[in-house]
Amino acid sequence: MATLLPFRSAPTPPGLPMADDKYLSIEGIARRYPAPGGGSTTVFENLWLPMRRGEFVCMIGHSGCGKTTVLNILAGLEAPSEGVVIADGREITGPSLDRAVIFQGHALLPWRTVLGNVAYAVSSRWRSAPRAEVEERARRAIATVGLAGAEHKRPAELSGGMKQRVGIARALAIDPKMLLMDEPFSALDALTRGTLQDEVRRICVETGQTVFMITHDVDEAIYLADRIVLMTNGPQAKVAEIVENPLPADRDRAALHHAPGYYALRNHLIDFLVTRSRTFRDDPPAGYDPRHPPVVRPTLSDADATAIAAARRA
Ligand SMILES: Nc1ncnc2c1ncn2[C@@H]1O[C@H](COP(=O)(O)OP(=O)(O)O)[C@@H](O)[C@H]1O
Ligand SMILES: [Mg+2]
Repeated sequence: MATLLPFRSAPTPPGLPMADDKYLSIEGIARRYPAPGGGSTTVFENLWLPMRRGEFVCMIGHSGCGKTTVLNILAGLEAPSEGVVIADGREITGPSLDRAVIFQGHALLPWRTVLGNVAYAVSSRWRSAPRAEVEERARRAIATVGLAGAEHKRPAELSGGMKQRVGIARALAIDPKMLLMDEPFSALDALTRGTLQDEVRRICVETGQTVFMITHDVDEAIYLADRIVLMTNGPQAKVAEIVENPLPADRDRAALHHAPGYYALRNHLIDFLVTRSRTFRDDPPAGYDPRHPPVVRPTLSDADATAIAAARRA
């Protein structure tokens, strides 16, 4: 009889050296398609990115640079034209329940209830688990995303935000080693988006989940990510740089804009999206090596430094 694993609860301490606890490694991947007039079009190439266990990474870049393709490759739904991705020491060759995907459209089974949708995922992970245990696990995941009481509703009876919560519950319920999210909140109204960002952040901090998330919302990345990967525009997109988030781990969404370093970080990201994402390909910085993209930690402004000094004195 299969016994269900508990939710993992020990978060990985931030700041571990990469070599100690690398979970995922993107190694030189490219994606090419046949071009209409012969030859091929390169969406992106020479992409390198290591990820630590327990790390929350956001990828930002303009539409068409290949973000969804990268996520599909991490999910094992697509193969790279070149290069490999290693997860937990093994090359990714296909989908795995170790890596749960949360799509923008929630892809729920319309004829199943909330509980039915989540339990279905649980029973596909633990096939011989007794029904009561499957349901118990599904209920716990549903409660985690704040949907207790809605277990017997069907997708048609749910708002967009509630459906997305079910998608998150379904992903969490199978205790994945990694969560993959492709602009998961972009179809939601601002209020719901904020609430779900809070939920996801809380859950990821509590469970030490490793997350790769695509977003085009700079503020979402600042709030959620430990590191932000900046993609240049396509074709031939590359990782331009990796930005380390200087904000404290216990950041609070409502007070984010008061946090030291917030404006430096935000301006850096917006400058990249407005200008450098476009000019990077023809004018890369001296010494740019796609295998080791520059790691940037936006520096504090004078106002930030003053705020920190004041906080220390207080
Ligand atoms: N089957 C395909 N054939 C040709 N080009 C494709 C195919 N699928 C995707 N592309 C191209 O790959 C590029 C990247 O797509 P995508 O990964 O969806 O980008 P993003 O998520 O960053 O907007 C797009 O420009 C798209 O035209
Ligand atoms: Mg996309």
